[in-house]
Amino acid sequence: MINKCLFPAAGYGTRFLPATKATPKEMLPILTKPLIQYGVEEAVEAGIHTMAIVTGRGKRAIEDHFDTSFELEQQIEGTSKEHLLSEIRSLISECTFSYTRQREMKGLGHAILTGETLIGNEPFAVILADDLCTNTPDCAQGILSQMIKVYEKYQCSIVAIEEVPLDQTNKYGIIAGNPVDGTDNIYRVTDMIEKPDPKEAPTNMAIIGRYILTPDIFNILKETPAGKGGEIQITDALLEQAKQGNVIAYKFDGKRFDCGSIDGFVEATNYFYGKTI
Ligand code: UTP
Repeated sequence: MINKCLFPAAGYGTRFLPATKATPKEMLPILTKPLIQYGVEEAVEAGIHTMAIVTGRGKRAIEDHFDTSFELEQQIEGTSKEHLLSEIRSLISECTFSYTRQREMKGLGHAILTGETLIGNEPFAVILADDLCTNTPDCAQGILSQMIKVYEKYQCSIVAIEEVPLDQTNKYGIIAGNPVDGTDNIYRVTDMIEKPDPKEAPTNMAIIGRYILTPDIFNILKETPAGKGGEIQITDALLEQAKQGNVIAYKFDGKRFDCGSIDGFVEATNYFYGKTI
């Protein structure tokens, strides 16, 4: 039912300068795999094979990564290193990748609106590759897979949430909501605020970089003025849907690393390295 996954990947990644001066943040590797490849793998695990990527200037390496490199293939064929390409080869063969460019970086909401041309009029998933998500031993399913199950039941926009320390609410979109169906991990959203001060935050439930959005979000985004930080915020557009009762927040099973920050990036590196030894 969800066929396409949008990857907004046009941001400047200023927290990683100078590494991100000529290299897209999404191509920074955790061990040997770039962040965006983890995201694409999560989408595939959720049954999605159509990837729509919003890029910008200096992001061409993303397109090259999801394309065949004939020289390299020739060089490595039949050698002991061939297996190192097997994961990316199979992603390339089982998925399609389409790109559009965000010309001005006017925020995540604007990046998602830029993706309309690739998505059309259907519900779609969104992955922010710098939020690296992984399942844990007690939950075999990826986070996007879990969210699609929730979407199938509620048929409205779904945001993934996580409880964060109260003093960090100013880094996230924060929701307020009421638990539905007697669960303790699914909420009907009643309010959302982008990056509130801890004093103004209604809860400590933060939206992380996984969404399922219904396509009416595009028309809402067209009418959404610049908000916090002068950027067009997806949180503001989602609030319009929430006012109609059309946003569900889902507290996922799994682990998330904020790889847009140095601390989160190092933590993710250590975690994945720990799994190899
Ligand atoms: P961030 O604010 O975390 O990314 O945006 P950033 O701006 O690249 O990073 P810093 O803060 O300067 O270090 C969250 C996601 O939204 C995308 C980013 O690429 C990232 O995946 N984004 C953000 C866009 O695609 N376009 C924008 O105009 C803004």
